[in-house]
Amino acid sequence: MNKPKRYTITAALPYTNGPIHIGHLAGVYVPADIYARYLRLTDNDVAFICGSDEHGVPITIKAKKEGVTPQDVVDKYHAIIKQSFEEFGISFDNYSRTSAKIHHETASEIFKTLYDKGEFIEETSEQLYDEKANQFLADRFVTGTCPKCGNEEAYGDQCENCGTSLNATDLINPKSAITGNVPTLKQTKHWFLPLDKHEAFLKEWILEGHKKDWKPNVYGQVKSWIDDGLRPRAVTRDLDWGIPVPVEGAEGKVLYVWFDAPIGYISSTKEWAKRVGKDWEPYWKDKDTKLVHFIGKDNIVFHCIIFPVVLKAEGSYILPENVPANEFLNLEGNKLSTSKNWAVWLPEYLIDFPNQQDVLRYALTANAPEAKDNDFTWKDFQARNNNELVAIFGNFINRVVVLTNKYYNGVVPNPNEFSQVDEETLAAIKTYPNVISSSIERYRFREAQQELMNLARLGNKYLADEEPWKVIKVDESRVQTIMYVALQIASALATLSEPFLPFTSTKLKGILGLRHNEEQSDVVISSNKQLATSHKIESRNDDLSWDDISTKEILLPSGHQIGKAELLFSKIEDEAIQIQIDKLIASKKVNEVANKTVEPQKDTITFDDFTKLDMRVGTILEAEKMPKAKKLLILKVDTGIDVRTIVSGIAESFTAEEVVGKKVTVLVNLAPRELRGVESQGMILMTENEEGKLVFVNPDDASITNGLKIS
Ligand code: MF3
Ligand code: ZN
Repeated sequence: MNKPKRYTITAALPYTNGPIHIGHLAGVYVPADIYARYLRLTDNDVAFICGSDEHGVPITIKAKKEGVTPQDVVDKYHAIIKQSFEEFGISFDNYSRTSAKIHHETASEIFKTLYDKGEFIEETSEQLYDEKANQFLADRFVTGTCPKCGNEEAYGDQCENCGTSLNATDLINPKSAITGNVPTLKQTKHWFLPLDKHEAFLKEWILEGHKKDWKPNVYGQVKSWIDDGLRPRAVTRDLDWGIPVPVEGAEGKVLYVWFDAPIGYISSTKEWAKRVGKDWEPYWKDKDTKLVHFIGKDNIVFHCIIFPVVLKAEGSYILPENVPANEFLNLEGNKLSTSKNWAVWLPEYLIDFPNQQDVLRYALTANAPEAKDNDFTWKDFQARNNNELVAIFGNFINRVVVLTNKYYNGVVPNPNEFSQVDEETLAAIKTYPNVISSSIERYRFREAQQELMNLARLGNKYLADEEPWKVIKVDESRVQTIMYVALQIASALATLSEPFLPFTSTKLKGILGLRHNEEQSDVVISSNKQLATSHKIESRNDDLSWDDISTKEILLPSGHQIGKAELLFSKIEDEAIQIQIDKLIASKKVNEVANKTVEPQKDTITFDDFTKLDMRVGTILEAEKMPKAKKLLILKVDTGIDVRTIVSGIAESFTAEEVVGKKVTVLVNLAPRELRGVESQGMILMTENEEGKLVFVNPDDASITNGLKIS
């Protein structure tokens, strides 16, 4: 296995304008956590760093909307985010925030160093200005058409549709997000980072240096930006929320949020090092340290181009070894959206599914958007739990633990002669650490988790084939061997599952008596301890490391006392899933109402105009589909005057069978016209409901008979 190294692992600092949702988790935090936990288990020196991104326009906008200060907004969400990460088991070594003093100092210092080294261009230029709001418009304060892809909702710093990073003045038809006004241009001074000056370095470092080891989606995006030509980029803003620009002549200006936020990784590392009595510098300056940034795809340009240029220009920092950005996760077929409340929010999940953190981690990893956008559905979540975690992993462990207790009072039996299958199974266990490592080290977390499940499958199959519950009646000594082998698999699972299913791993180690768990000082484990001392059996309170699984001959020795069975996973019923689906349907409805644009009233008509319309009550007698027409039904309608043919464009909302017998309102004196060779002699009145389905305008009263006039 690899020699231990020092790693600085960062996870994108979340904006503090809302809670964390599954998109953030799947894209960034779950894979980063798997990676960090794995590296710790393989004895590396790890700093897993994150914090809240508290500057930037979205926070100012949110504060304005809610009538509170930006500080109020960030205080509220920083607390919510931090707590939900903790409860979810994201094992950050430090979670800081960019409003912290240490961050203001660190960011200012780096800006000053670059300033002093002459790395910025100072330039007065015309920038977009909102006369009504008395404010310059940059970043999310302005929207307009993306010059690259034509998306009409591109922001002043980035188009979310094509990912291009923009300057606000690049936008076509810009519009203020504050007042809706068309901005004017006004002169202002700013400091620009000349990215173009660093083109040769970026080409050599990424395009040549990381062609093979960076993910194709990341490499491809970076290449396309470099190929498009890099331009100077303003790193200061005329705003009052942010870190003041620390040079003279910059009053009223702050650092651009994307200048200060990534530096938050450094400040957070400093905060951590101070707390635990370490030196922070090797984590950012030692060439042997591996720096890895976990981010979503919308952050690629900032982490692969702008921040590295800052680090390089500063001079004393290392550059990222890899930036394994993920694509996006969708929810039930639609893009996740904080503003549209189309999301599964972590704090809500933790309440609705208590002690089931691992189920969500599992489902998100199984469906991780590693190479392309992916979809999260509640049905898939349920199936992953019921058919995989419960039926495979949980079932195997439960059988092993129950049978060991039943046959041997929970003491690992002495194996007798190993059969060929036993030998093969024991040998197979040893291959898993390497197989899983190899996937994790290539950032293929779905594949890695699948391999973990294959080990559980192996265990399940072994028990199903060997059938100890049958053999016990005829050959007790064989059962000792079978249970011994199965217990070795269980113990390997306890360690290897740790990066993916940390809560399960802890619980399983507790059940197997592998670790004295302080927080969970339950009776079973303390009685194990007594047993261990009184019987002088080998005490196995230590954790097994990752490498132990492939190198140790015996993982769980004969004579070791395990605990009682406890369920690792439980079935998730349809009702629990329906509650979640209903929540989504409800938020869809709220959005529809909010977005509903009522059609404006048409021009006034006279009473005479109205009386020209002859509308009657009718009944549909027959209906058939118009051949080769998706939308049309041919109807025979009793209008009370006659029975006539009407061709109606309702076939996408109704089948022919459904409409027969329906009472409808018919405009009978509409000039006949031919549709696909069939003469239509009138029109059925329809409306469209909220779901976009057509509905008959029908007189719902038994006393209303065909031919009655509507007036
Ligand atoms: N807040 C940003 C986002 O959510 C990510 C910031 S990452 C950092 O998209 F590097 F700037 F910190
Ligand atoms: Zn675009």
